[in-house]
Amino acid sequence: MIRRKIILITGANGEVGHGLIQKLGERDDRLPIVVLDIKQLDSALRPFVSRVVVGDILDTKLLETLSTEYEIDTIFHLAALLSTSSEFNPENAHRVNVQGTVNLLKMAIDQGEARGRPVKFLYASSIAAYGMPNLAVKQQAGAVTEEQYLEPITMYGCNKLYCEHLGRYYARHYRQLSAQRAVGVDFRCVRFPGLISAVTVPTGGTSDYAPEMLHAAAQGKPYAAFVREDTTIPFMVMPDAIKALLMLADAPRERLSRLVYNVTSFSRSAGELADMVRAAFPGAQITFQPSDARQSIVDSWPSAVDDSAARRDWGWMPDFDAERAFNDYLIPTIVERYRSPA
Ligand SMILES: NC(=O)c1ccc[n+]([C@@H]2O[C@H](COP(=O)([O-])OP(=O)(O)OC[C@H]3O[C@@H](n4cnc5c(N)ncnc54)[C@H](O)[C@@H]3O)[C@@H](O)[C@H]2O)c1
Repeated sequence: MIRRKIILITGANGEVGHGLIQKLGERDDRLPIVVLDIKQLDSALRPFVSRVVVGDILDTKLLETLSTEYEIDTIFHLAALLSTSSEFNPENAHRVNVQGTVNLLKMAIDQGEARGRPVKFLYASSIAAYGMPNLAVKQQAGAVTEEQYLEPITMYGCNKLYCEHLGRYYARHYRQLSAQRAVGVDFRCVRFPGLISAVTVPTGGTSDYAPEMLHAAAQGKPYAAFVREDTTIPFMVMPDAIKALLMLADAPRERLSRLVYNVTSFSRSAGELADMVRAAFPGAQITFQPSDARQSIVDSWPSAVDDSAARRDWGWMPDFDAERAFNDYLIPTIVERYRSPA
């Protein structure tokens, strides 16, 4: 039986999935897309995909069936429980974020063996993998490299960092140890900063205050940010996040000097972001009411990350700095979104 070659996207109905499916859908050269998410796919995305599978990445029987049915060329593994959600039920987060990733890596290994060529495995990690010991160190550290300050304080951050290591294990160690099963997986990981989308409203993340203040202002609603005004972390708008995933997926393997890459666009404090929102929406009512739990999480994330390895190895360069992000993408798209709600 000839199996159809596909791209598999997990967590496809999430914020990143929305952007990725739309962008991939525009490409003529792409393979058919099969999506797997525990939730039904947004109907607006349906035209871009060949098949929608509503199911759980913890369901190994389901993964085996998909593996038998298709030749999986590339996996974009986006399914996860995000940082704030994970703190409500850390053990469940561990199951989804870690065991779910192991299941998909194993699926990729089996697929690679069957076709004699490694599957490309794109993994979305996060700045939550970092853990700055205190605010003074955070302020002095500047842009941190992929190897610095890796002591995450959240379950989500621990999960993300460990899955980066698992990717390394399955890519290298597994390949070396099992001589007759010598394919491994072509693991590639982007460590994202906080992401801001103009078309979807986030849930469950701890960088959500930035998109939330913007979406609230566009709807004329007051918003109380759950962090202090001076809180600073790196951000990126969704089109740049998708650009990074696709650039890394397309990069020739021999150009990649590492498996995990930081990417970033701009660092701004919550107060500076609020000023930019007020400039676009003069009536915006934004206040700051820090929540101890969420504030401590954001304080443990670096204020900037060093993405020079991505720039050097695969030519990474964001299209949007803060000003362009607001003026050319966020504000016009959000105004349009709330003028004619989807
Ligand atoms: N949004 C950000 O700011 C951000 C920042 C850094 C990294 N990331 C990473 O990028 C990836 C995508 O993030 P997002 O913002 O789209 O998240 P999201 O919460 O919007 O989407 C996650 C998707 O995963 C699905 N999902 C959850 N558990 C599942 C399971 N057991 N089986 C199948 N599907 C399941 C959800 O239904 C959801 O559609 C995640 O891995 C996340 O950790 C996101």
